Amino acid sequence: MADIGVNIELAKVFLEQGKLVAIPTETVYGLAANALNDRAVLNIFEVKNRPSFDPLIIHTDSIDKVVKFVTRIPEKAEELAQRFWPGPLTLLLPKSQVVSDLVTSGLDQVAVRIPSHPLTLKLLSQLDFPLAAPSANPFGYISPTTANHVAEQLGNKIPYILNGGECGVGIESTIIGFADEQPVVYRLGGLALEDIESVIGAVRFTAHSSSNPKAPGMLKSHYAPRKPFFLNTRGNIPTEANGLTHYLLFDQFLEGVDVRVQRLLSPDGDLKEAAHNLFSYLRELDSLPGNKIWAELVPDRDLGRAINDRLRRAAAIGE
Ligand code: TXA
Ligand code: MG
Repeated sequence: MADIGVNIELAKVFLEQGKLVAIPTETVYGLAANALNDRAVLNIFEVKNRPSFDPLIIHTDSIDKVVKFVTRIPEKAEELAQRFWPGPLTLLLPKSQVVSDLVTSGLDQVAVRIPSHPLTLKLLSQLDFPLAAPSANPFGYISPTTANHVAEQLGNKIPYILNGGECGVGIESTIIGFADEQPVVYRLGGLALEDIESVIGAVRFTAHSSSNPKAPGMLKSHYAPRKPFFLNTRGNIPTEANGLTHYLLFDQFLEGVDVRVQRLLSPDGDLKEAAHNLFSYLRELDSLPGNKIWAELVPDRDLGRAINDRLRRAAAIGE
């Protein structure tokens, strides 16, 4: 079983040996390895059971270091980096030769981000290589937001989990790429589009496609609990007061149903709090002795858009 602790030195030693270490970030926990060591990167795909066509994000701790992994930074990317890093933003940039095709699944762009978590920033500052890190969950399952979530699923496959407590943001980073200098959203995430647009103006969306090889994280069926999972808008959730149906709701309990089978993402109607709770509540409901989960969509603004995106993918089992 993996040790869980806050020993940065130990994490560093394992990473220098090419081993995998789970690391905390402000979004979700990552399954990290030396991004410049192909053997270590391959190991990430094996441990996660992740298809090799799904590329990895490179994490580092300064824009000076990012410059080594890319050939150019469009002006709007630079503005976003200055404003939001460290933070829940990933930029897709043309990769330099330093970055192996294994990391990018053969694509000519590399995804990079500077995460905002004190332990991980300290670790990154002491390494002379960047870390490739997908979310630390088996491929297709819900992303982990605590060290225990990681231990439950990958604890027997990795030596160490760096424990940074609960992830503050709770959903993965927003991914922005550039086509002819114009910004394009590849994945909604922990940085709201409204915040991005306030800095660089309007951004476009890529079409959702389950065969889009550019962003396999956009696969429709993803972030899925094991139990049957159903989704609808508020007011359209059926009342099944049988004790076996669990409910994931935004800010109000469903009348006529035992509150013990209901979870409110944010009793105050705060979308940041809802994002923070989303994956841990989904996991909790998935592990309770019920037989299905009903969830309701949240208001479609700010982080609500990313929350609804994850809920829709969780509901798209088998598609
Ligand atoms: O918040 C996050 O982004 C977390 C933490 C650990 O940093 N990481 C994360 O990684 O969510 P992962 O691997 O679970 O999701 C990364 C997404 C995938 O959907 C992948 O397809 C996309 O980023 N991606 C990575 N590199 C890419 C590239 N070169 N081109 C297009 N999409 C890319
Ligand atoms: Mg993931």
